[in-house]
Amino acid sequence: MRILVTGGCGFIGSALVLHLVQDLGHEVATLDALTYAANPVSLQPLAEDPRHRLIEADICDAEAVQAAFAAFQPQAVMHLAAESHVDRSITGPGAFIRTNVVGTQVMLDAARRHYEGLGADKASFRFLHVSTDEVYGSLPPDAFFTEASRYDPRSPYSASKAASDHLARAWHETYGLPVLVTNCSNNYGPRHFPEKLIPLMILN
Ligand SMILES: NC(=O)c1ccc[n+]([C@@H]2O[C@H](COP(=O)([O-])OP(=O)(O)OC[C@H]3O[C@@H](n4cnc5c(N)ncnc54)[C@H](O)[C@@H]3O)[C@@H](O)[C@H]2O)c1
Repeated sequence: MRILVTGGCGFIGSALVLHLVQDLGHEVATLDALTYAANPVSLQPLAEDPRHRLIEADICDAEAVQAAFAAFQPQAVMHLAAESHVDRSITGPGAFIRTNVVGTQVMLDAARRHYEGLGADKASFRFLHVSTDEVYGSLPPDAFFTEASRYDPRSPYSASKAASDHLARAWHETYGLPVLVTNCSNNYGPRHFPEKLIPLMILN
């Protein structure tokens, strides 16, 4: 399967791309603007692998995004590209609104156009929007969120991700784009950027 992954040079994205290509044998195009959070070295194991290509582009750049869809003809999209660090969203929220909200709208629009032109691949096409549990706000001890929990974002980061979730759902309801939204909790592990809590604590 041909899968377009945005943010594939980041922490989770790079683990995902390596898994999709090396373990599952998919063909992947990684679309990433290579911001400070990217580490292209993470995808070094795929440097010579014909099943992977890196497209250096900004998800807010509608022309570049459309060109990527046209060139790669994805059968699925996994959208992870985001500004992801809560503390940075407090000091500079503009980048979060731009990438997480406007960039998601650009991705959804390009995916919709692509989806409408699909033939045999249409029935199985999916747009996976990767979001966060932070859109639901804070939890008391021993409680948990469900998909039915009320949206209650508390930071510019989580507010921008909540906005992007609403856009993803709207593109499903309005245009029939087959969208999936996931709201996972915090991840940690190899290739984690050291501004995040666990690697920061370990390094300090
Ligand atoms: N890390 C977590 O614990 C966690 C938890 C829940 C949800 N998420 C979500 O998962 C996704 C991936 O998180 P992560 O921790 O791997 O993030 P990350 O910050 O490590 O990586 C983000 C990637 O997106 C790219 N990017 C940023 N702006 C871009 C733009 N305008 N155009 C193209 N590429 C751009 C960066 O270059 C980077 O490679 C995000 O959507 C995030 O909200 C993360």
